[in-house]
Amino acid sequence: MTLQDIDNRVKGCIACDLCKTRTNTVFGTGNPNASIMFVGEAPGRNEDETGIPFVGAAGHLLDDYLTAVGLSREDVYIANIIKCRPPNNRDPRPDEEDCCIHFLHEQIDLINPKLIVCLGRIAAKRLIDPNFQVTRQHGEIYSYQGRKIMATFHPAALLRNPANKVPTFTDFEKIYEIAKQENYL
Ligand code: URA
Repeated sequence: MTLQDIDNRVKGCIACDLCKTRTNTVFGTGNPNASIMFVGEAPGRNEDETGIPFVGAAGHLLDDYLTAVGLSREDVYIANIIKCRPPNNRDPRPDEEDCCIHFLHEQIDLINPKLIVCLGRIAAKRLIDPNFQVTRQHGEIYSYQGRKIMATFHPAALLRNPANKVPTFTDFEKIYEIAKQENYL
């Protein structure tokens, strides 16, 4: 099985109603051999139009953080919990996550990252702990199927609340330090 095989199944997926309103499915982007994998929530308008994750305003901010600590999209892989845009960018529903999450698990198995970084509450609650609180627990390292996992603030949340930009930068510095120490790059 390859990432392309999974993407083909995502493209044909009709498991939940989000397939009725999507323009494109949004599978993932970046280095398929990356040691660092970022996991966001769900596509927004720009992602639905292009089929690529994190290409809107939140994506530009994510790129800025990567660049600021000396990383680029080519060093990492970026995907989402949900592969189709929820109407009006509402939060994905738990039943929609249940339908979709197996695709992310298959991506994780194939890419085999050493560190997963959850972008925001939805990914952290799904992958780390249903009671995860980003404000209290961001930047902490947890374990996920033998891999390191952590969460930081979602870039879209930072656009609404810039006060968390400084702690987010500290989290990205930590990501880079781990990558350097453990020869991820
Ligand atoms: N927000 C997300 O969580 N994912 C995207 O791909 C874009 C915005």
